[in-house]
Amino acid sequence: MADIDLQAVHNTLVAVAFEAGRMILAANPNKISTDTKLNAVDIVTETDQAVERMVLARLRAAQPTFAFVGEESYQPGVTRVTDAPTFIVDPIDGTTNFVHGFPNACISLGVAVGRVPVVGVVYNPFQDLLFTGVKGGGAWMQRNASLEVGKGQGERVRLPLAGTPAPALGGLSSALVSIEWGSQREGENFEVKARTFRKLAAAKEGGGGMIGGMRSLGSAALNLCACAAGQLDMYWEGGCYAWDVAAGWCILTEAGGRMVSGNPGEWETTVDSRVYLAVRGASSGQEELVKEFWDIIGDGRMDYKH
Ligand code: IPD
Repeated sequence: MADIDLQAVHNTLVAVAFEAGRMILAANPNKISTDTKLNAVDIVTETDQAVERMVLARLRAAQPTFAFVGEESYQPGVTRVTDAPTFIVDPIDGTTNFVHGFPNACISLGVAVGRVPVVGVVYNPFQDLLFTGVKGGGAWMQRNASLEVGKGQGERVRLPLAGTPAPALGGLSSALVSIEWGSQREGENFEVKARTFRKLAAAKEGGGGMIGGMRSLGSAALNLCACAAGQLDMYWEGGCYAWDVAAGWCILTEAGGRMVSGNPGEWETTVDSRVYLAVRGASSGQEELVKEFWDIIGDGRMDYKH
C-alpha cells in the first residue's frame, strides 16, 4: 500500500461522486426503466447501470491496475473481493428511496487494499452532503459540498461531530440504532431479524432491550456515515454486500467507530461477510453495547451466500 497515494485516489473519487450526483439528480425516477433482481423489492434502474458504467470508465482511466467490484456488474459466485487494491462501488445505494424520490440515496465509492477499506467517499446528491475517509487521515463531512451555483461550499467538519473523545455510550435503552429489513424476506435470516427487532423493542421486564429508538435510512452507506458522525449509535444488518459497506466502513473507523460481525461473538469481520454490526466512536462503552446487542440476538445466526 506504501506506493498508493490514497489522498490522490480520494480526490479522484470525490470528483467522480459529484459527476455521478449530477446524473442521479438529472434522472426522473418516474420516467426511467426499472427492473428487479432477487425479488420484487430488490430494484435496479437504468440510472444505477448508467452511473456504474461512467464510474468504471473514470476509475479505469485513473487507476488501471486496480480491480473493480460494482453492484451492477457483480456476478454471483464469480465476483470476489481479493487482496488486490480494489474499487468497491455502489452507483446508487438506497435505490428504493431513489425511485420514490425520498432524498436518502447516495453513491458509495470505496477502496480496499488487502480486503481492508482504506478510502471511502459517500455522496448524497439530494442533500449535497459528502462524507469522506482516508486511512490515517480521519473522516470528514461537508454540506453544500459540490459548489452548486448560488451556494457557498460548506466547511469540512471532522467526524465524529461531537469531537474527540466522543461521548461515552450507555446501554441499549439510551441508544439510537439503525436496522434494515433488506431484500430477503423468508427463511432463517429473515426470522433472526424479525425476532431480534421485536426483542430489541420489548420492555426489559419481558426480556427485551427497551431500545431508545430504531431507524431505517434505507441505505447501508448512509447508515454507516450517520454512525461515523455520531448521529446513530449502532447499525445492524445482514444481507447487504461489500459495495454497500466498503466506503462507509472506512469513514466509520476513521471516526473512531468499529465494525464487528452482525453474528454474536465475532469481533472481526470481513468487508464481504454480509453480516455487519457498526458502533460509533465513543470514549467508553463500545464493547459493552456490542455485547448487549449480541445478547439480544442470542442463538440466532445469519448466513448469506457470496
Ligand atoms: C440496499 C440498501 C439498503 C439495504 C439493502 C441494500 P441498494 O442497497 O443499502 O439499506 O437494506 O440490503 O441492498 O440496493 O439500494 O444499492
